[in-house]
Amino acid sequence: MHQLEISDLITATDPRSGARLPVRRAEVVRRLHEAGDRRAARIVAALPVDRQDVLDPLAVDRLMIGVHTELQRLSEELRMGERLVHVLGPLFDAIRATAGPAGGGGPLRLVDIGSGLGYVVRWLAAHGALGPDVELVGVDLDAALVGEADRLARAEGLECRFVHGNAFDLPEAATVYVSTGVLHHFREPDLAEFFRAQAASPALAFCHFDIAATRLAPVGAWVFHRARMRHPLGRHDGVASARRAHTDEALLQAAAAPGIRPLLYEPRGLANPFCTTLRPVIGVRPQLEAPLRRALGRASRRLVGPEQLGGTPR
Ligand SMILES: C[S@@+](CC[C@H](N)C(=O)[O-])C[C@H]1O[C@@H](n2cnc3c(N)ncnc32)[C@H](O)[C@@H]1O
Repeated sequence: MHQLEISDLITATDPRSGARLPVRRAEVVRRLHEAGDRRAARIVAALPVDRQDVLDPLAVDRLMIGVHTELQRLSEELRMGERLVHVLGPLFDAIRATAGPAGGGGPLRLVDIGSGLGYVVRWLAAHGALGPDVELVGVDLDAALVGEADRLARAEGLECRFVHGNAFDLPEAATVYVSTGVLHHFREPDLAEFFRAQAASPALAFCHFDIAATRLAPVGAWVFHRARMRHPLGRHDGVASARRAHTDEALLQAAAAPGIRPLLYEPRGLANPFCTTLRPVIGVRPQLEAPLRRALGRASRRLVGPEQLGGTPR
């Protein structure tokens, strides 16, 4: 069965203009039936529509914000902020060390692609975790999620900003692109294109966290989402995400874009299968690998390239 996520189907945005596109409920229900997912089809069939069978955009926005709020609780429990800093702290240190005292010039900028409600960006801002010289930006194609992320950041008085649109159309270049829980939404050839776009930009590195594709992942996701999420859509998509997760090998292959050294932190075999749920695929300009390894210290043993992957115990 080809696994689909409901949240990918009930919203549509023109990637160029950012304009919202109408989505017909019957079309989504048909696609889910075709994929053999009757439960997901039933969830969508219960969503409100207008006379033309177009899904009610306000109801969809409310639903997406509700589901992402529940998702944020998972991010808190999984300590996503700390996990990011564990890798991004040394990565930004390596970038500063490479630029030298006179180097670089402009500010360092982190861009979170598909920032949703902006949990990660807001957490980094609230903890001042990467230093005052790192500008924090979240970007998402979904205007409702960006609006809510912005509202929460302003309510908390945080130094970060959120932009509605395509992460690759921003007027200012990122120094480092990051994301959490986004990669499994892309299938090939879109996954390789996602990495190629970053390699073709002036960015020095990327670091994308996504669900580790282990045999336990779908069961773990089921338990976790059952316990922590109330809406059937969130429960459905949580398990679908784990089933769609890319393998370590597929991620390293897709991330091997021109001018990028692809690396995986805590690949299968080096991580405790009962604990690791999200791990990052990292891409750096080749001159950054040695300083990154130095900055990581002992933890650098957990950072492997494609040539080492076959050698890690299963
Ligand atoms: C599952 S959400 C992830 C939300 C968030 N990272 C989290 O952990 O809660 C994936 C998001 O990626 C966004 N997205 C996908 N491609 C994008 C792009 N090129 N630019 C900006 N946002 C993008 C989608 O709009 C969607 O909201």
